[in-house]
Amino acid sequence: MADSRAIGVFDSGLGGLTVAKRIMELMPNESIVYFGDTGRVPYGTKGVQTIRKYAVQDEQFLISRNVKMIVAACGTVSSVAADTKDDLPVPFVEVISHSVKDAVDATKTGRIGVLGTSATIKSHKHKDLIERLLPGAAVFEQAAPLLVSLAEEGWFSSDNEVARLSVQKYLSDMKRENIDTLILGCTHFPVFSELIKEYLPGITLIDMGVSAAKYIKNTLEEGGISNETGKSPEYSFFVSDKPVTFEKTVKIFLGANAEDIKTELVDVEKYEEGNNKN
Ligand code: DGL
Repeated sequence: MADSRAIGVFDSGLGGLTVAKRIMELMPNESIVYFGDTGRVPYGTKGVQTIRKYAVQDEQFLISRNVKMIVAACGTVSSVAADTKDDLPVPFVEVISHSVKDAVDATKTGRIGVLGTSATIKSHKHKDLIERLLPGAAVFEQAAPLLVSLAEEGWFSSDNEVARLSVQKYLSDMKRENIDTLILGCTHFPVFSELIKEYLPGITLIDMGVSAAKYIKNTLEEGGISNETGKSPEYSFFVSDKPVTFEKTVKIFLGANAEDIKTELVDVEKYEEGNNKN
């Protein structure tokens, strides 16, 4: 069996492109429909009810595009709204549990850090799962909301003083606690990998996109829904707003030129459960 329909991927904004990129690398045959809720980002500072409402609308938009799977490429949605999948007609993949498994496999000392948005850290989702899989683990959590804005601004390279100081400020407790593994619990954070490694030499970084992509590949293969039809993959991008920094941000997260990417605007508020309007 084979299925040439696209994988639907969504995030509060463009950070989820770090996950889309990993899917493209590991599954070059697969088409992707990406939705970035750029008009309503950030999600990570909002309340659970709002995040859940947004997640349902994002999912219903992707369903309207006839995708074969939905990937919540957002740590925040995966933390507090993953159960919105219960009404979906296609497989749903969140990004937390696979990264936790990889972190538990990687740690040698059992001292694991989690860096995420405020909503993600408040949910303790990573911590609870780590402690279930590795009883006795020491888990250190830190919300780093400012890093979302810095990433969107393109401020993450090692010569950027603001980014360097922010990384140091957010990670100083974990440095003192001698963690050996750090989960980048927000899809915006892989761009800070270089700065983090400079501050925490020898650290093992867990990128949720890498962990999720391995799981997605297995799920497609086991479900017999990989694209083995010979049809070339297509990438479609949709956003709820085209911010002035759009081109720059796409390049940061996807490593591709925004001019090569055709992007359509979507009024995502129209998409409610059982009410999918194109
Ligand atoms: N990409 C989102 C996440 O993984 C973070 C951005 C936001 O706060 O919306 O949590």
